[in-house]
Amino acid sequence: MTAAASFERDGFVVLEDFVDAGACDALVARADELVASFLRSPDAVSIFSTTEQTRTSDEYFLDSGDKVRFFFEEDGDAINKIGHALHDLDPVFAGFSHTPELAAVASDVVGMHDPRILQSMYIVKGPRVGGEVTLHTDHTFLWTEPQSATGFWFALQDATVENGCMWAVPGGHRLPVRRRFHRAGPSDADGTTFDELVAAPYPTNDEVPLETGKGTLIVLHGLLPHRSGPNTSDRGRAAYTLHAIEAAADYPADNWLQRGPDLPLRGFAA
Ligand code: FE2
Repeated sequence: MTAAASFERDGFVVLEDFVDAGACDALVARADELVASFLRSPDAVSIFSTTEQTRTSDEYFLDSGDKVRFFFEEDGDAINKIGHALHDLDPVFAGFSHTPELAAVASDVVGMHDPRILQSMYIVKGPRVGGEVTLHTDHTFLWTEPQSATGFWFALQDATVENGCMWAVPGGHRLPVRRRFHRAGPSDADGTTFDELVAAPYPTNDEVPLETGKGTLIVLHGLLPHRSGPNTSDRGRAAYTLHAIEAAADYPADNWLQRGPDLPLRGFAA
């Protein structure tokens, strides 16, 4: 079966050895540098010490679509992820994100016509502290009309059930989307809300773990229910994700992720 046929049938496809180990190591090393430099900065101090923690962290998140920002695990002070414009603003991440090979996957496997990279996330999921990501679809968070969001998830280290690999519901991309996440008002201070579109939860009886070696790319349909577990092991589980949308699709003004005019969306081409 071709990768395109698997993707159409299951809503995801696993492409082993898509990037070489050296490129994975270089991305992890660069992320470590960015985190170390962030933790030395006044920005980090103000995020740690704010007395209006929730409000400030909401705005810090809502304002991050065209920036490189650092987010913490829920219970503790470990870094959880970096987002959401690494692929445009950091030269090492930009080089990893804009390649002819990725452009070919978007076009030949997914069937995208004119993909634009909307966001990037480096996910730390550190030993013993990396938290779970609960079952969701990416369309819920990156809504377009018609639906077009597609995820490109790279294992930068081996991912197993013990260190929090991806889980997915094969064929679940044919189910109606359950919820939509969006801004509650025009200002960042208005926060965000979910619209509940289908009350019943996704059926998860057929859910499968996707254990992957370092360098694997998993391509995820925007309507595919997927999640990842906590890292209960002593081994790291760094991953990098890109989400792309079709240039021609309508992108609502109340989507959480908004960019300023200085940073237009680009495709996968280098
Ligand atoms: Fe996701």
